[in-house]
Amino acid sequence: MEFDKDVGRLQRLMAASIAGINRRQAILETLSINSGDRIIDVGCGAGQLLGHLAKAVGENGEVIGLDPSVDQLAQAKSSCSDFSNITFLEKGADETGLPDNSCDAAKSTQALEYIPDVDAALTEITRVLKPGGSLVNVSILWDHFRFHGADTRLNDEIHEVFRAHCSHQMLPMELSGKLQKLGFRDIKDKSLAFVITRRDHNSPALYTENVMANFAINNGMSEKDVTSWRSQLAIAEKQGRFGFASFPVLTSAHLAG
Ligand SMILES: C[S@@+](CC[C@H](N)C(=O)[O-])C[C@H]1O[C@@H](n2cnc3c(N)ncnc32)[C@H](O)[C@@H]1O
Repeated sequence: MEFDKDVGRLQRLMAASIAGINRRQAILETLSINSGDRIIDVGCGAGQLLGHLAKAVGENGEVIGLDPSVDQLAQAKSSCSDFSNITFLEKGADETGLPDNSCDAAKSTQALEYIPDVDAALTEITRVLKPGGSLVNVSILWDHFRFHGADTRLNDEIHEVFRAHCSHQMLPMELSGKLQKLGFRDIKDKSLAFVITRRDHNSPALYTENVMANFAINNGMSEKDVTSWRSQLAIAEKQGRFGFASFPVLTSAHLAG
């Protein structure tokens, strides 16, 4: 999925919602950041976490926001214009161009699952981390990501079509083994699962519903069916039987020292 134009806008609204805030809080609590650290945010998107990281590393530290999307990086640059210790790389995670052992920590939020060759990205992240460096990743268990309230057949169909929006449906389940092979230790997983039963303005459910609807129409479902799915969700909400469940997992690890 390309994170430009409408998808990028919806993704940024999603990141600014309560679900995004909770994730950033969990990441900041897990990353042990020291003044002077150099931290890379892999797939930084519109950079909602970059300012927090920049304050934590201080003026002697550096935060690198890496993302291949020109649209996302433009947003990130604009929102971080007050920080002189943030640099931006318009690159993919598999080829950062950074020197070996040059970062104290790497974090990534809902980006690795979109990278087809995620092993190449993880190898590159490992290469740029210093021995003992920390990694924090948040990825979603997409098999457990689900809207409730619409007709079962239609609901199943749209979720099935949406599977193609990302390369790795269950990355958190595979990450531990991949990280062990790359030399990481202290690998821990923490559930950031949440449930939402409203789809009002600024609800992550509504943004996600929009993203899914656009994706489904662009990938072969009829507008009539997608409109019908959305109407059914709206009716379900009015009747108090709407729900949206998502299951992000925060994985943390340290590279062997
Ligand atoms: C769902 S967004 C998440 C953005 C941000 N981390 C956040 O939490 O708001 C996924 C991001 O991954 C980026 N991305 C896609 N392919 C990538 C790659 N090969 N390397 C790094 N980032 C990538 C996209 O451009 C997009 O900004």
